[in-house]
Amino acid sequence: MTKLLGVIGDPISHSLSPLIHNGWLRDFGFPATYEAMHVPGGQLSSALESLAKRDTVGVNVTLPHKLEALALAKTASASAAKIGAANTLTQQQDKSWTADNTDAPGFMSSLRDALQTNDLSKEKVLLLGAGGSARAVVYALNEQAIDLTILNRTPSKAVSLSNEFTNAKAAFGDLSQYKEYIESATIVINTTSGGYSGDIIDTGPGNGRLFYDISYGAAAKAQLDDAKLNGWRVRDGLNMLVAQAAESFRIWFGEEPDRILALKRCQNALEAAE
Ligand code: ATR
Repeated sequence: MTKLLGVIGDPISHSLSPLIHNGWLRDFGFPATYEAMHVPGGQLSSALESLAKRDTVGVNVTLPHKLEALALAKTASASAAKIGAANTLTQQQDKSWTADNTDAPGFMSSLRDALQTNDLSKEKVLLLGAGGSARAVVYALNEQAIDLTILNRTPSKAVSLSNEFTNAKAAFGDLSQYKEYIESATIVINTTSGGYSGDIIDTGPGNGRLFYDISYGAAAKAQLDDAKLNGWRVRDGLNMLVAQAAESFRIWFGEEPDRILALKRCQNALEAAE
């Protein structure tokens, strides 16, 4: 019988996760299908109840459900508990759910890939933003004890995020005042959602340093084009998207899927949609 997987969110129609996972399911010849499931906020619990009645392997969970997914799971990995959010739920024999967060390892592997090294001990990271997406990034960097400064428009959020993950330093203020921080950073990671409303951060000269925006497609394009013109080496969040998907796939099936192939499929789909 065909098993079911999927991604639950609102909005969800733009998600590339079905493309990624269905590609891998076909590559492996697994009799399963991965669907985009539109579920408005507050309705995750009932959605999971109906999925438990079907032959469901697991689901990814995205905005606005990542906190509730953790709360509804019977057990959770240590990283999901610390981050306070889950993006991967796996159905157990007793129909309960276990929660994982694959954003953190997905981010870390995509960063290592961008830098072409496993040794990040000398890096000084400046993280822009302190919202939901920043949490997994801060957790992952902190686990590796990487020098990190968090800069956010709203001071209190940067401070509380850095307090939770004790090694991180917090800075705050209008993002246009970030220059003193940016000059001493070796990597800048943008987790703000400003790109969705067309806001561009003035990065200043990059001199070949890495500017990594965890969004992708139209939301990242203007910012990354601008940073590139300023001499930054730029990366968007597609690698991270594929890497977190690969970590989820491994949890569900115990197999390592082809990340490069998935990345190509995503790039082709984005180009076709332009
Ligand atoms: P996500 O889950 O995508 O992280 P979020 O939790 O709403 O979404 O967080 C959005 C982040 O982008 C926040 O750090 C937000 O800053 P505030 O905490 O001050 O709200 C930041 N952000 C959004 N729009 C921004 C803009 N135009 N300029 C700078 N920062 C912005």
